[in-house]
Amino acid sequence: MFYQNATSTVWLERPAGAAAEAGNAEEEAHAMEDFVYHRPVLQREVLRLLNPKPGSLIVDGTCGGGGHTEALLETGADVLALDQDPDAVQHVSKRLARLGRRIIVRQANFRHTACVLDELGIRTIGGALLDLGVSSRQLENAARGFSFVRNGPLDMRMDPQTQLTAATIVDEYSEEELTRLFRELGEEPAARRIASLIVKMRKTSPFRETLPLVRAIEKLVGRHGRQHPATQIFQALRIEVNDELGALEDGLRVLTARLALGARIGVITFHSLEDRIVKNFFRDHSRAWLDKPEWPEPRRNPDHDLKLVTPKPVEPADEEQRANPRSRSAKLRVAEKIHEPFTSTKL
Ligand SMILES: C[S@@+](CC[C@H](N)C(=O)[O-])C[C@H]1O[C@@H](n2cnc3c(N)ncnc32)[C@H](O)[C@@H]1O
Repeated sequence: MFYQNATSTVWLERPAGAAAEAGNAEEEAHAMEDFVYHRPVLQREVLRLLNPKPGSLIVDGTCGGGGHTEALLETGADVLALDQDPDAVQHVSKRLARLGRRIIVRQANFRHTACVLDELGIRTIGGALLDLGVSSRQLENAARGFSFVRNGPLDMRMDPQTQLTAATIVDEYSEEELTRLFRELGEEPAARRIASLIVKMRKTSPFRETLPLVRAIEKLVGRHGRQHPATQIFQALRIEVNDELGALEDGLRVLTARLALGARIGVITFHSLEDRIVKNFFRDHSRAWLDKPEWPEPRRNPDHDLKLVTPKPVEPADEEQRANPRSRSAKLRVAEKIHEPFTSTKL
């Protein structure tokens, strides 16, 4: 769909190059240096269920603040840490520099993991982790445009080199397209009314910043319950800007194809659309046989290469949910590679 940047290796022995954005963003990033970048969720469960072997290479496709990456390294495994956000890459490179060549940090969308592995001459991996969504740092940095509490540009790109921004969507998508987006990706009951208001308002004044959009939504639907009325709309915009569902589908395929036999893939999701994709992918890859009423007999599933490690998703314990409210909607699913699929197309 839109071009996703998959370049610029950052080896730890070299300082990371990419500053997220000029000006305000940089100032904000420095001011936030003392904040916790991101508190990893389900960390104990990830380690127990991924079961990384010392010396094996785990791909952390969403390294963010490096919490899971560090925990994986502490088990003795090596890590290829990817993130599409150059700010995360810079942060993790600095945070884990002491570990030298046991970790490679690279700016890349995890849907391009195969290219990264090929460039590094790596054929198979000992495990993979995806911890989806945005980091606390991205959410809290108003300059990135994810926040509906503090004003910022209507941006929402995790990778600032991609083209599509939230402002482009809000100002250029048709009313029908906006309605579909808010309904399907935001599961927003007032999707049509909000889309129609946006189209009306943008004729006189295009949306460039987050708070004018937030106020317009608030005025239209009012405040009910604990959730901010703009939550679902911002979620929909963010998913569209970053093609998050498309990236997840590609990432699952590519990472599973590269797992060594016995290696595991774990995915942490934060909303139902993502969880459904992971659940269906693992289900479709863990059934040995397929059957249909019109077939004379069951057939072998050509995609069968996984076994479910978690038949039901693992959720954070009460203690974690209390300590870290962001973890409340987290769901972890894990599967293990048991053989190559019968129709093996190498990715
Ligand atoms: C929830 S945070 C991960 C936090 C991390 N596990 C930690 O312990 O700090 C999600 C991160 O994934 C990154 N991300 C999201 N989608 C991505 C994709 N398709 N490719 C690469 N990185 C992605 C975001 O930029 C963000 O830094």
